Amino acid sequence: MIEQLNQLYEDFKAQLSEVADMQQLDNLKTHFLGKKSPMGNILRGLKDATPEQRKELGMKSNEIKNAMTNGIEEKREEMKKAEIDAKIASEWIDVTLNNTESQTAGLHPVSVVQYEIEDIFTSMGFTVLDGPHIETDHYNFEALNIPPDHPARDMQDTFYFENGAILRTHTSAIQVRGMEKIKPPFKVIGPGKVFRVERPDATHEAAFHQLEGMVVGEDINVAQLISTMKTLLSEIFKRDVDVRLRPGFFPFVEPGFELDIACQLCGGKGCSVCKHIGWIELMPCGMVHPNVLRSGGIDPEKYSGFAFGLGLDRLVMMRYKIEDIRNLHSGDLRFSGQFV
Ligand code: DAH
Repeated sequence: MIEQLNQLYEDFKAQLSEVADMQQLDNLKTHFLGKKSPMGNILRGLKDATPEQRKELGMKSNEIKNAMTNGIEEKREEMKKAEIDAKIASEWIDVTLNNTESQTAGLHPVSVVQYEIEDIFTSMGFTVLDGPHIETDHYNFEALNIPPDHPARDMQDTFYFENGAILRTHTSAIQVRGMEKIKPPFKVIGPGKVFRVERPDATHEAAFHQLEGMVVGEDINVAQLISTMKTLLSEIFKRDVDVRLRPGFFPFVEPGFELDIACQLCGGKGCSVCKHIGWIELMPCGMVHPNVLRSGGIDPEKYSGFAFGLGLDRLVMMRYKIEDIRNLHSGDLRFSGQFV
């Protein structure tokens, strides 16, 4: 019978080594240690044994039962650990890994271009000014020679607060705040976000970016305005860009101009971005209206100046050949990831 018990233990060990999952392990346990186990069958023969033999067999069977129980529990622990190890191996993340394909952060293309233009202007002696997004009617319109009911307001419908404040429609509001703070002669720029009620399309958004410029001093003239604009454009595009100047009306300048550049997307042939004209309106500009100088506390008899507005989003679209302005605020990583 000792032989049988030893054989049983050998069978158990062989089967235990084959076990592949918890279910099989439980089945093995029921088979070898459960009520109808082969051990029970063997021990049933004990009734014919001598007391000596009984004692010996009792000890042996207990020893084997304990060995089997231990073997099963050890195997269970081993399998649990292997399961955890497998999970760790498959779900492991290296948080220090630099995934250069899509995860690296970078500046938004509008910021890239804005900072670059700020650098160009500061190197030309300009100071960078800032102004609030939420403006008063005075700074956004009236001080810029746009009284209530002036038709020019139709072009710049915006978002109104209950207390009468508005979201600024253009960075020209920064001009007036600048004049109040700084004594002429001065050269300033004011970049920033502006807002209008727009029906969004490929070239219009309700929130966009402008950069305002203003130069005030004695004997400032149109020739200086044009040469400043041309210098700026050749710096931005790193080559000479074709421009054309047309008369344009803005209440805060007199005379006023529209400065267009040849569409950089189609090379002037005509495409959806330039509305098939070949030219893009990029920089409205002009000589500062005497009323505007006056509302900024500057004597128009003594000083003159020029001012210009630059559509930053448009410039970004030209530079990177982006067909739709709505991409700029889409938050789509497939888009923004291209500029990192
Ligand atoms: N503020 C104008 C706009 O948003 C742009 C502009 C035109 C600014 C002429 C100027 C300027 O400084 O002289 O439509």
